Amino acid sequence: MSTWAVLVAAGRGERLGEDRPKAFVRLGELPLLAEPLRRLDESEWVDAVVLVAPPEWEEPAILLAEELGASKVTACVTGGETRSDSVRAGVAEVPEDAAVILVHDAARPLLPDEVIGRLLAALGEGYDGAVPALPLPDTVKRVERDLVVETLDRSELVAVQTPQAFLAPVLRACVESTQNATDCASLVEKSGGRVRIVQGDERLLKVTTRADLERVAAWL
Ligand code: C5P
Repeated sequence: MSTWAVLVAAGRGERLGEDRPKAFVRLGELPLLAEPLRRLDESEWVDAVVLVAPPEWEEPAILLAEELGASKVTACVTGGETRSDSVRAGVAEVPEDAAVILVHDAARPLLPDEVIGRLLAALGEGYDGAVPALPLPDTVKRVERDLVVETLDRSELVAVQTPQAFLAPVLRACVESTQNATDCASLVEKSGGRVRIVQGDERLLKVTTRADLERVAAWL
């Protein structure tokens, strides 16, 4: 049973307003990418890592992996225009005999190892996929421009994070189609796969703005 991690780091991160892709913005002493890469590499649950880098940033990504001594990094590929394209490029590097694929956003640097344990336990129960989820603190409304159309039942809603874990053949079949989605689980759900939620973690905050970056840096 081998578990492969696909670390997608090919986003532009325009909302940070820096001169480089988000994965290479400083977090503490190192580029942001160093943190999730080191954590995946050190995880006892993970056997190998595929890095998906922004175009023209493949070499700095490989050099960073070498600098960190991240020996599980097996391939570094160029990402695509959308997140789905980047996931597809990464999954294509995972060998046929892999059992599980974890897809993780580099933009969520503080990956607690216990979350990976919870995800793999869920797959062991017979699910096709597992995702970390948190309850929503706010009331959520559906709107059409400025007009509220509906208030959704918050007890039925969760916010999902990454890493997301899947049986490798299931994810492979889903990403080979050309659909676009903001997360991998939605592709698996649409194709009839059973996806379970597990307890997420506040520390898996996705870095989008400078304020997020400062929060994550304070938690380092
Ligand atoms: O853009 P967003 O913050 O939703 O991206 C989530 C993750 O997907 C980030 O880690 C980002 O680097 C990655 N991504 C990618 N390729 C893209 C867009 C996003 O690898 N074209």
